Amino acid sequence: MNLTLPPLPYALDALEPHISRRTLAVHHGYHHAAYVDKTRTLARGTPLESATLEDIIHSSAGSGNTGLFNVAAQAWNHAFYWQSMRPGGGGEPTGAVAQLITRQFGDQRTFSQKFVTAAGDRFGSGWAWLVLDGDRLEVTSTSNAQTPLTTTAVPLLTIDVWEHAYYLDFQQRRLDYIAAFLAHLVNWEFANQNLDVALGVQRNQLQAGGTSNAM
Ligand code: FE2
Repeated sequence: MNLTLPPLPYALDALEPHISRRTLAVHHGYHHAAYVDKTRTLARGTPLESATLEDIIHSSAGSGNTGLFNVAAQAWNHAFYWQSMRPGGGGEPTGAVAQLITRQFGDQRTFSQKFVTAAGDRFGSGWAWLVLDGDRLEVTSTSNAQTPLTTTAVPLLTIDVWEHAYYLDFQQRRLDYIAAFLAHLVNWEFANQNLDVALGVQRNQLQAGGTSNAM
């Protein structure tokens, strides 16, 4: 099994003062690491032992193996979350994502309000996402380990709203954490990379469909 904990894409103190070194050390080094370890343990000796994390998520979701799904999806969601942030990020979106946000939501402010509502209103633990579903952007949230990977939507960025993501820095003030994420941390370049890949896949599917229709 090749499943390993991916390193953080920045130093432990790179997101300060918004997310502290202490939070990242515990969140990545304990929580994320534990999800990866448990996925490896549960998949060992099964047909999924050498599968990719994405394949483990799809297979366990399809077979109803909730124990394996929960840890595998959490391992994937966390890796995606680290990349959804960067030092000096946040603020106005850029590139094609910015154009789609304007087309879909009217303006950046409306998008931000929807994102704050989705992340703030998620009851208990979970995630909020910006996703591409077909040709539409959507702001969604998922509970516990649930992930857009098992849907038709393609995730562009996410925020972790489990308490372990923010409690050391913000205590119960989840809305302050979400505001800091939007203003100072969002990695719009990462969202644009994911959008670019998703649109490329759609173009290829259209071309393949056109070819097969022609035949
Ligand atoms: Fe987390």
